[in-house]
Amino acid sequence: MDRIRIIGGNKLHGTIPISGAKNAALPLMIAAMLSDETLILDNVPRLADVALLQRILGNHGVDIMAVGKRPGDHEYQGQTLHISAKNIIDTTAPYDLVSKMRASFWVIAPLLARMHEAKVSLPGGCAIGTRPVDLLIMALEKLGAELSIDAGYVVAKAPGGLKGATIEFPKVTVSGTHVALMAAALAKGTTIIANAACEPEITDVADCLNKMGAKITGAGTPRIMIEGVSKLHGARHTVLPDRIETGTYAMAVAMTGGEVQLSGARPELLQSALDVLTQAGVTITVNNDGIKVARNGAGISPVTVTTAPFPGFPTDLQAQLMALMTRAKGASHITETIFENRFMHVQELARFGARIQLDGETATIDGVAKLRGAPVMATDLRASVSLVIAALAAEGETMVNRIYHLDRGFERLEEKLSACGATIERISG
Ligand code: EPU
Repeated sequence: MDRIRIIGGNKLHGTIPISGAKNAALPLMIAAMLSDETLILDNVPRLADVALLQRILGNHGVDIMAVGKRPGDHEYQGQTLHISAKNIIDTTAPYDLVSKMRASFWVIAPLLARMHEAKVSLPGGCAIGTRPVDLLIMALEKLGAELSIDAGYVVAKAPGGLKGATIEFPKVTVSGTHVALMAAALAKGTTIIANAACEPEITDVADCLNKMGAKITGAGTPRIMIEGVSKLHGARHTVLPDRIETGTYAMAVAMTGGEVQLSGARPELLQSALDVLTQAGVTITVNNDGIKVARNGAGISPVTVTTAPFPGFPTDLQAQLMALMTRAKGASHITETIFENRFMHVQELARFGARIQLDGETATIDGVAKLRGAPVMATDLRASVSLVIAALAAEGETMVNRIYHLDRGFERLEEKLSACGATIERISG
């Protein structure tokens, strides 16, 4: 299994190109199943999760062609996928595939909407919490689907097709909103999604669906309205930049000091995180090419942050912020409100000498003057990258084990960081 070796202590200087967003690319690929014409997606990141979803969609008969690099393309340019779901040959998503990636459960929406049936394995829990799908099921039932659970599978049917309805989510859910949006696009009549998630990835999917002929208004607000249409057509769409990758590298620069241009980043996608970094003493400058992040001289000031749905501080940056605060001048408080068990990085950060105390959903981090490199491993994607951030500022060598988590969500992480002066290498095998 590959590992990453980091020798800490170098400041970061240079430019990091920001890739397309994983959490937009995945639902966009799934949304392609709503049409029998080809959806072309540009700026798709080269990630293990994307490759796995290609396999999962292939199992349903979806044909995906990845266009390689063309002359003149930048070395970090995302790939272009031509996705054709002309013939859906199988409406079952089996356990061995869905259990590898939770988001693949979302195929239930296009399968039901277009084929009027689906049999999809329940995804089960994961390292960051129990992560139930009750609200996704509720949304599909509101749209007229009949659902039952049989031997670990959700069996769904909508013999006469789905029908528009009002879906009010009792809590904000990204997965629930994606599923409701995709299913309602082909339902008969009008659907209102109330208390919808406002994450930029929802807006990106809605924009793409509208290009395919859907009639969606209000995406990006808590109230989305969808006028169902009978058919969607092909389209071409560019995946928006990854706000979590942007925030992660911004925190890495904040941690090491130095100055890095995050090329292609869009500040409005992560304003709350940029505000927290400014409060911590980091200089953020927005320019035509994205965002410049700098910390020169000044130490890191402690912050108090609570994760929240967009536009609040994202849970997907909580572990990275915690890594940064291990070096702050004083005590920081970070409260996690989205996932009940998203603190798996705390014990690993302690291996660097970090001082963190957990009390329910709040972590108190007492900044220390120095971190020391250590062998570490993590059980989820964002936790893994928080260890990389700590390692970049730690004295001596860190070996990050189990990096397949990193490959799920960060494109060419070690290349991007070493190009800015970090001593970081992948060790194969
Ligand atoms: N929830 C329920 N019932 C449901 C659905 C969700 O109780 O039926 C709960 C969850 O257990 C959680 C909360 O609602 O406590 C929010 O879950 P949500 O549905 O919003 O999350 P998700 O769609 O499963 C996506 C991202 C996550 C990100 C969250 C929150 C993708 C593929 N995943 O997950 O990303 O943390 O939204 O923003 O888009 C990651 O990229 O590392 C990652 C975990």
